[in-house]
Amino acid sequence: MSSSVGREAQSAIYRDGVAGRRPRVPVGFAQLERAAQRRMSRAAFAYVAGAAGLERTAQANREAFGRHRIVPRVLRDVSARDLSVDLLGVRRPTPLLLAPIGVLELARRGGDAAAARAAASLGIPVMLSTQASQPMEEVAAAMDAVALGAPRWFQLYWSSSRDLVASLVDRAERSGCEAIVVTLDTHLLGWRPRDLDLGYLPFSRGLGIAQYTSDPVFRELVRERAAHGRSATRITPAAVAAFAGILRRHPGRLRDNLRSGEPLAAVETFLDVFADPSLTWDDLAFLRERTRLPIVLKGVLHPDDARRALDAGVDAVQVSNHGGRQIDGEVASLDALPGVVDAVDGRVPVLFDSGVRSGADAVIALALGARAVAIGRPYAYALALGGEEGVRELLRNTVAELDITLGLAGARTVAELDASILAPA
Ligand code: FNR
Repeated sequence: MSSSVGREAQSAIYRDGVAGRRPRVPVGFAQLERAAQRRMSRAAFAYVAGAAGLERTAQANREAFGRHRIVPRVLRDVSARDLSVDLLGVRRPTPLLLAPIGVLELARRGGDAAAARAAASLGIPVMLSTQASQPMEEVAAAMDAVALGAPRWFQLYWSSSRDLVASLVDRAERSGCEAIVVTLDTHLLGWRPRDLDLGYLPFSRGLGIAQYTSDPVFRELVRERAAHGRSATRITPAAVAAFAGILRRHPGRLRDNLRSGEPLAAVETFLDVFADPSLTWDDLAFLRERTRLPIVLKGVLHPDDARRALDAGVDAVQVSNHGGRQIDGEVASLDALPGVVDAVDGRVPVLFDSGVRSGADAVIALALGARAVAIGRPYAYALALGGEEGVRELLRNTVAELDITLGLAGARTVAELDASILAPA
């Protein structure tokens, strides 16, 4: 990344301003969220913006950033800055990642590929969600068209079907994924009042299950289910009608992937196999034997779990509370970061997400010991507003603010950021 990436972005925006053009994607997060809300359907926005319970955790994620203040150091020649970091054995141009976000079609049709193309153009690794709206092979091909081998990782929700887990991991390998990110905080779906009040879960309407419907093992499970007639007894006429509507509005995807008559069985099968709440540390051995790819554990918040992860031989941990979507009243992700960093003691990289809304937020998380920071909701909103170009703009701006904040704080590299540049608010 050039040393003037921050200034270049600023100049481009101000130049456009002279020509009467405003940014398509608002630079400020509050404005971005408001603009996205206007663009998205009520249910789609509720799903993306919502969090668990009274949303105290989502709020705490933001408040935690407010408790740290950057104390800049001056007169340090920061003219040449370098944002690159080592991540799983590869030098990456920035310390940013795209967090896995399911059902991106709620933001925009073809949203998975659009967001991934934007990240690919900037060398930012993308975590492809198990709940994506497009199969990983399709998104991988879209990324390769931008930059061959553009970095992608596969985020795994550990299904109760071992065969399905194995199949997803094999597909991820064949799709050129460089790591498997196992999300540990969603073995049950969080209690989310915004979605509950609308009676709206995308998956039960056939959205966000493309990794499943494109999977040979899953299709076999669907066939078995349909053959036993299990779905017919549990599906109401209203669900059938809703489903017919979805098929009309989303021509192609489900119909391509499933023979007629199977979509309802697919949804029911998905709901059956989605997660495995009985999962334990011992099960990780199955994954370790199955793949040579690095394994990242996402959703580690307790230092003892971080130590346990090291014992299990994982390659990185990701401090995350799923953007506050799982437990109401959970520890803020940023507050959990220092304890995990201490416990890990430099043996593997610690990644971070939940609550990052700007480049300055990223600097704070990096100063607290994160090796890289994943962007979540902001890119879903940018996608809703501007598609691929919108996500590119958002990422460019985030990198730009990161670069400028780094330089203003008196640092030249990400490695120079540590807790010594922070003071309590
Ligand atoms: C998510 N997240 C998520 N995580 C994951 O491992 N697999 C997934 O499929 C999803 N899906 C998903 C959908 C939506 C709409 C959101 C908002 C989030 C969690 C995501 O990876 C990340 O942890 C959070 O988004 C971080 O919080 P913020 O920064 O978005 O508040």
